[in-house]
Amino acid sequence: MTETEHPRSIRSFVTRSGRITEAQQRALELLWPTYGIEFVEAPLDLAQAFGRSAPLTVEIGFGNGENLTALAADHSDRNFLGIEVHRSGVGRVMLAAEQRRLTNVRVICHDAVEVLEHQIPLQSLDEVLILFPDPWPKKRHHKRRLIQGPFVDLVVGRLKPSGLLRLATDWQPYAEHMLAVLSACPHLKNQSSDRAYVPRPAERAPTRFEKRGERLGHGVWDLCFRRL
Ligand SMILES: C[S@@+](CC[C@H](N)C(=O)[O-])C[C@H]1O[C@@H](n2cnc3c(N)ncnc32)[C@H](O)[C@@H]1O
Repeated sequence: MTETEHPRSIRSFVTRSGRITEAQQRALELLWPTYGIEFVEAPLDLAQAFGRSAPLTVEIGFGNGENLTALAADHSDRNFLGIEVHRSGVGRVMLAAEQRRLTNVRVICHDAVEVLEHQIPLQSLDEVLILFPDPWPKKRHHKRRLIQGPFVDLVVGRLKPSGLLRLATDWQPYAEHMLAVLSACPHLKNQSSDRAYVPRPAERAPTRFEKRGERLGHGVWDLCFRRL
């Protein structure tokens, strides 16, 4: 398999040393045993990780985690797993989870492509959310976009039958690209009545990047596809 065909070749994020506040650093040390799951190249026992079996939503690239923690607080009957490479966001989510006494949220601080490949069992997810992923607007950077055919195949394999893949972006050319890639996947069915975009889900909490897009006068495009 050539590099471009393989999802592991997607360099969808930039590694920043990143500012981490003292509180976030403390959270990374003290709260990790409660909320953190180490990346290992072996399938995760999800029921053991959460201490119970429940419908599972995975949010990839949750940033500051506004949506992840809001969903977990609003849906105590569901489990939520966040995957993010940046430690500051992971620290933030753990602090919020502790403050809100959430017991249904866990985080993995690692590249989501590798986590999906190695750690998430096949057909184990009820829902996958990817909100405002970096659009990599320059043409020469398009290969760094997370949403590409091989990555979508990887996600689809981890979704249960009837599981949902929800995406949102504030960058119209990326929205069109997402729509084309997802529509080309024979295992997914668009949930939009006109085979394009869906209304903004009411349950989504506004994220940092959604608010940034709003300030810049961007629109928002939501997509929702169901695994067949
Ligand atoms: C543009 S930000 C959006 C953050 C958040 N979803 C929001 O709406 O505010 C994209 C995020 O995805 C994360 N990310 C990108 N590629 C990733 C990957 N392969 N694995 C995990 N996180 C990733 C980045 O670190 C960044 O925090």
